[in-house]
Amino acid sequence: MKEMNVGIIGTQFMGRAHSNAFLDVEYYFDLPAKPVMRAACGRNKENLISFSQRFGWQSYDTSWENIVQRDDIDMIDICTSNLTHMPIAVAAARSGKHVFCEKPLCMNAAEARKMLDAVQDAGVCHMTAFNYRRVPALMLAKKMIDEGKLGKVHHFNAVYYQDWLVDPQFPYIWRHDIKEAGSGAHGDMNAHTVDLARFLVGEFEAITAMQKVFIEERSLADGSQKKPVTVDDAMIFMARFRDGAVGTFQATRFATGRKNYLRLEIFGSEGSVFFNLERLNELEYFSRSDEVAEQGFRNILVTESAHPLIDKWWPPGHIIGWEHTFIHEVGDFIAAAVKGEPVYPDFYDGLRCQQVLDAVSQSAQEGKWVEIPEN
Ligand SMILES: NC(=O)c1ccc[n+]([C@@H]2O[C@H](COP(=O)([O-])OP(=O)(O)OC[C@H]3O[C@@H](n4cnc5c(N)ncnc54)[C@H](O)[C@@H]3O)[C@@H](O)[C@H]2O)c1
Repeated sequence: MKEMNVGIIGTQFMGRAHSNAFLDVEYYFDLPAKPVMRAACGRNKENLISFSQRFGWQSYDTSWENIVQRDDIDMIDICTSNLTHMPIAVAAARSGKHVFCEKPLCMNAAEARKMLDAVQDAGVCHMTAFNYRRVPALMLAKKMIDEGKLGKVHHFNAVYYQDWLVDPQFPYIWRHDIKEAGSGAHGDMNAHTVDLARFLVGEFEAITAMQKVFIEERSLADGSQKKPVTVDDAMIFMARFRDGAVGTFQATRFATGRKNYLRLEIFGSEGSVFFNLERLNELEYFSRSDEVAEQGFRNILVTESAHPLIDKWWPPGHIIGWEHTFIHEVGDFIAAAVKGEPVYPDFYDGLRCQQVLDAVSQSAQEGKWVEIPEN
């Protein structure tokens, strides 16, 4: 069997989620190549060695520049902080590697354009890891919208709530530094909901935004010094879509009690759907075509073999989890890379998302509506 030799950069949260996906994917999906976990890269050597041993990465190196040049690697998986995505992706593409990159694609639209040019010039496969496109319940929502079950979509409302920063003692990390993260809750969480809005409803036309920093400085973990927080703690915006729908978006890490609460409400002329990531096997659906006396939101348990991707997993009612979204995207990426086919969301989708994110940041600074470029 063919091999897809993987080099992963980044060994912590996403490094673990992606490693789990490479380990599992071949047991559930029929792939044209077997993923081989060839090399791992991280900055801290001690952590890197323990990560490599735990997940079975065959070798390790603290230099991503070395990994992207290796002849025995076919694809680079980028799981690092946002500042590093662009240089790693461009170098990997120039070295002929397929590139799988975590979201947000990078720091801004100018960087995203460079990344898209690099992968297109090299003719390699590319994907932005917006994993929530591969939640079966959201794939079902997409199918229902495409089939016209919701009619004309009027509203796309998204909230993404977490609460891990409401604790003032939570230390300063790279996610608080605009130079390394690009933005705060915005690029981290609105990146997902902006991509889902494009996936489910279509392109954005214009937005207007506000942002808030609730805690202006935080101490380093070792208590040695305080550093200013240079990113948003919360970003809220309104949107107009090109096809006439309107939307609202909120991302905050100060939603006390909410842990990873990504909720979507999509209201159409014929029906509506409602999704909550913390109950990811479920999709609520209201149809105006039901008999009036029996109308109401029904809760679809998205675990039937007739539902997207579920036939690869368990019998009805045996729910899947958050980690499965990564297995789904890794499987699709490997299949596309081997066959030389496109796979979505790709770097163009990453660029389009970044254009919206940039416009929102600009609007929050300038206090006015900002138009989104047409392409
Ligand atoms: N899809 C999702 O649901 C999701 C969730 C969380 C994070 N992310 C994204 O994944 C990326 C990583 O986030 P995370 O939460 O895993 O971060 P993290 O802080 O947990 O891990 C970052 C890793 O990057 C490594 N790294 C940073 N700079 C490096 C360099 N120059 N060379 C080698 N290694 C380097 C660090 O050593 C560390 O292993 C971010 O872009 C983030 O937005 C996506």
